[in-house]
Amino acid sequence: MLISKWFWIFLTMYLKDGPSLLLKAQRPAVTVILNTSIISEHQQASDPRYPPLREVDVLRRLHQETSITVALEYFKSVVGSRLFQHTSRTYQIMIEKLGRENKMDAIQYLLQQMKLEGLACTEDIMISVISSYASFGSADQALKTFYRSGDLGCKPTVKIYNHLLDALLKENMFNAISPIYNNMKKDAILPNVFTYNVLIKALCQNNRFDAAYNLLEEMSNKGDLPDSVSYTTLVSYLCSSGRLEEAIKLVKMINPSVQTYNALINGLCKESRIKEALHVAFSMKDKALRPNVITYTTMVNALCKTGNLRLSLAILAKMFMKCCAPNMYTFASLLKGFFENGKVHEAIDIWNQLIQDGHIPNLITYNILIHGLCLNGNLKKAMDVLDEMDQNGCSPNVTSYGTLIEGFSKIGDIEGASLMWNRMIESGCNPNVVVYTSMVDMLCRKNMLDHAWNLIKNMISENCLPNTVTFNSFIKGLCDSGRTLWALNILDEMRRQGCWPNTRTYNELLDGLCRENNLTGTFQLVDEMFQSGVELNVVTYNTIINGLSNAGMIKEALALIGKMKVKGIQPDSITFNAIIHEYCKQGRILNATRLVGGMADGNCFRDVFTYSTVISGLSIQHRLEDALVYFLKMLSEGIWPNAVTWNALVIALFEEIGCSTAIQSLENILGK
Ligand SMILES: *[C@@H]1O[C@H](CO)[C@@H](O)[C@H](O)[C@H]1NC(C)=O
Ligand SMILES: *[C@@H]1O[C@H](CO)[C@@H](O)[C@H](O)[C@H]1NC(C)=O
Ligand SMILES: *[C@@H]1O[C@H](CO)[C@@H](O)[C@H](O)[C@H]1NC(C)=O
Ligand SMILES: *[C@@H]1O[C@H](CO)[C@@H](O)[C@H](O)[C@H]1NC(C)=O
Repeated sequence: MLISKWFWIFLTMYLKDGPSLLLKAQRPAVTVILNTSIISEHQQASDPRYPPLREVDVLRRLHQETSITVALEYFKSVVGSRLFQHTSRTYQIMIEKLGRENKMDAIQYLLQQMKLEGLACTEDIMISVISSYASFGSADQALKTFYRSGDLGCKPTVKIYNHLLDALLKENMFNAISPIYNNMKKDAILPNVFTYNVLIKALCQNNRFDAAYNLLEEMSNKGDLPDSVSYTTLVSYLCSSGRLEEAIKLVKMINPSVQTYNALINGLCKESRIKEALHVAFSMKDKALRPNVITYTTMVNALCKTGNLRLSLAILAKMFMKCCAPNMYTFASLLKGFFENGKVHEAIDIWNQLIQDGHIPNLITYNILIHGLCLNGNLKKAMDVLDEMDQNGCSPNVTSYGTLIEGFSKIGDIEGASLMWNRMIESGCNPNVVVYTSMVDMLCRKNMLDHAWNLIKNMISENCLPNTVTFNSFIKGLCDSGRTLWALNILDEMRRQGCWPNTRTYNELLDGLCRENNLTGTFQLVDEMFQSGVELNVVTYNTIINGLSNAGMIKEALALIGKMKVKGIQPDSITFNAIIHEYCKQGRILNATRLVGGMADGNCFRDVFTYSTVISGLSIQHRLEDALVYFLKMLSEGIWPNAVTWNALVIALFEEIGCSTAIQSLENILGK
């Protein structure tokens, strides 16, 4: 009796003050919290004037009590009284209550207490404990408790095994699954459909489809026919591991449920095989099945994503015809599709219709609306949505504010972004790394580099660690304003923060170094890229080639083009334009025009910059006729001249033939 008294006192304290006190006061300081009212309750409970309690009374009382602390105090006050002896059912309800609040230590003590009182742990209690651990992500603890089941007087059943296997699967503890299954066989417990389904899922997750098929066969042989869950699991995993054809074949061979059909339709849609998906959906009626709201929504979503808005509306119409009410996800897909395709008015019409039909928008749909409006530059209206959310009792989350902050940041509206930032903080919503990065990006655009750096330091001190995107924004800001050395220091800082630079990081830095004509630094950095295994992309090569050309090192630049081709990276017009520009600058027009001619070989299109550069080069050398040849060539390729082209031509014409004739000639050209 004494043990249990100390135990209750400890528990009450633990529940009131949380786990930190548990450590401090677990043993020695117990006397301190002896609470007279607890003792008096004990006395009250053992007072012979009170009538004995019935199990139903205790159960009802525990059931109705909303506060876990009070419930436990009541439970405890009953113990030790002569009025009632706890039963496995009263224990069960207490354990379930504790489990919902993740008071797992308390549960372990209760289990121990049951054992002390000679009460066996029931199947329901064991399942409740396993499920509680599973729902808080502690399958390993569930496993430990399961191993104690013999000690607790609980005989494992197929239901207990199923819950345990499910818990292990949820946390991908595949290594534990097979021993447990073997254990089960050893205990001569027959697996049921649920057991098989858990195993099938585990096998699918490990890409062991053959073993999964074998299990299906084993099920059929034992008379436990695979059910909708078995097939749906298999079909979904076949689809998600790129074995779509196999999934199609399987569905043809069985009598699929709507869920199994939906899994296949989802797989087809994900591979953009929408026509086939529609075909499958409409073939459901051959098996006397009707597509449900998930079937339709999957297709609407796929169609919207590929921009086929007309057909997505046709599906919506079909839903109405078939009396299948669209849900929030259906509308969310439509809204997103219309906004992303720039159909703002139509999207707003859909929204209004949704409200008119009595749908109550949730955070997901509100966020889509805000994002759509920001995407299409309608920030004012997006801000109104925030007000509307507040009025409708739907609190915006960090994504809602972040979308607006990003919108303001993109157009460089510091005031708008700050307004949103403050509103977010005032509403008690903490900024995340995405929101911080938007702010850093905007400050960099405004050349407020010190502010940006302070914000990053703030992130670090608030333990909202900046990621590669954040650092890339800052590094770009620094390089753009000629602070390349600072940017190089940030590269080191990044690594110190455990954040890995990517190709974009290096590209920004290389750009900064090349702009300062620091070729030594450039090559050092390229070396570093090779050493740390960061991929060089076409932008990297173009940046270096541009740097080499500007420094007059054409031979090296051409050699680099050869290298990039070897690496399988096709040079583009930017690559060639850099060298053509340098050739022209050096007056080596023939080399330049040769390169222009060679571009077409590499499937690389000449653009307005290519031609303007050559035409400028020719006009500087007073070679009007050649310039005009390139001018006509340009027009014949459908490339429209820009200001630089005109400027070069006009200068050449004036020098060659004088003012009035020049204007005449230009008019002639334009007349054509
Ligand atoms: C003793 O416990 C009762 C509830 O049973 C509580 O209201 C009271 O504040 C406690 N007293 C002390 C001194 O902790
Ligand atoms: C904000 O809410 C949306 C919609 O419920 C959700 O998708 C998003 O993950 C939430 N954002 C964060 C950072 O939790
Ligand atoms: C070039 O960059 C390197 C860093 O890689 C730096 O140490 C060096 O000072 C720079 N040179 C000049 C001239 O700025
Ligand atoms: C540039 O043209 C000259 C002849 O005009 C040629 O000798 C030289 O090899 C060319 N250079 C390159 C890099 O093609």
